[in-house]
Amino acid sequence: MNYSFYMPTRLIQGQGCVRRSAAVFASLGTKAFIVTGKHFARKNGSLDDVTAALTEAGLSWEVFDEIMSNPTIEVVYRGAERMRACGADFVIGIGGGSPMDSAKAIALLYSQEVKEENLFSGSYEDCLPPMAMIPTTAGTGSEVTQYAILTNDAKETKTSVASDLLFPTVAFLDAGYMKSLGRATTIHTAVDALSHNVEGMISKRATVISDALAKEGIRRFRLCLEALLSWDGQTELPLEVREELLCASTIGGMVIAHSGTTAVHSMGYELTYFHGTDHGRANGLLMAEFLKIAAERMPEKTADILEALSMNSVKELGEMLKAILGPEPPLTEEEALRYAAIAVQAKNIKNAPFELTEEEVREIYRKSLVRG
Ligand SMILES: [Fe+2]
Repeated sequence: MNYSFYMPTRLIQGQGCVRRSAAVFASLGTKAFIVTGKHFARKNGSLDDVTAALTEAGLSWEVFDEIMSNPTIEVVYRGAERMRACGADFVIGIGGGSPMDSAKAIALLYSQEVKEENLFSGSYEDCLPPMAMIPTTAGTGSEVTQYAILTNDAKETKTSVASDLLFPTVAFLDAGYMKSLGRATTIHTAVDALSHNVEGMISKRATVISDALAKEGIRRFRLCLEALLSWDGQTELPLEVREELLCASTIGGMVIAHSGTTAVHSMGYELTYFHGTDHGRANGLLMAEFLKIAAERMPEKTADILEALSMNSVKELGEMLKAILGPEPPLTEEEALRYAAIAVQAKNIKNAPFELTEEEVREIYRKSLVRG
């Protein structure tokens, strides 16, 4: 039993935790560079809470709200330049995975000269500014990981900048910011969190600690399943359900910080890159077919996953995912072929504890999404 476990991010959870944490922000620096998207942080109250806490602490800030979903390399270089120009000395990321990942990449590029061809190299100087993260969706777990995932046009996929230096200093977990999230975003992000916990168990980097966390993350997703399946998106999802989903998501982040994501994410990135499929949805569409292979090669781990889900078979999991995600336009044979060729090259597919051939990857795409 050889393992190491490193999770340096301080977690502060609870309704109103941002507004109550002026002293925590004061400990990070004097001027905050707030990285977020155009609208959501204003709408859900998180940006107001941050600026109120910064004001109370006597700190100044600049807002950089240019982060799009699936952020580009260009936007993080631009953000870093802006951060240097405005004299900020710490970063606050507010939003889903895209703003939080961008905030980490901006912190990296602010602190040192990194040429674009070396951006994904993983070798950086040890001088990043402090980072606070405030997730406003429950799925990515980015608030507790050392990854920043960016769109990589050169490779026609998404690629992660990965370094222990990217672990945020502090994360504020307030599910109240998720109250107004719509059904599709809520479900897609929840399935992303499930995928992190599931893939984390089917990883050659899994440890006894990450598995213990993953089982708990899966169990917390399971607790929300009935509420999600019966929710029409018109009424508000109970706050307790939102809190469970955020908990599953943060746990999932801690899991993949150690185990990495594996084949499902490698394959899902192509659906996002070429079809704009939401990240979590893309994973959910492929998860059951991947687990059918895992069930043959790692039956005990798969049984643990099903037990945490209170399910009897991978088929049952597949049916649940179909029910929760709804129908998806099919892929063509040519697309399955092309995406498999890209996915087998991905870094994270090598985290799978058994080798997947290009043919097997194509079969996962075919069985999941090719019709006729
Ligand atoms: Fe993910």
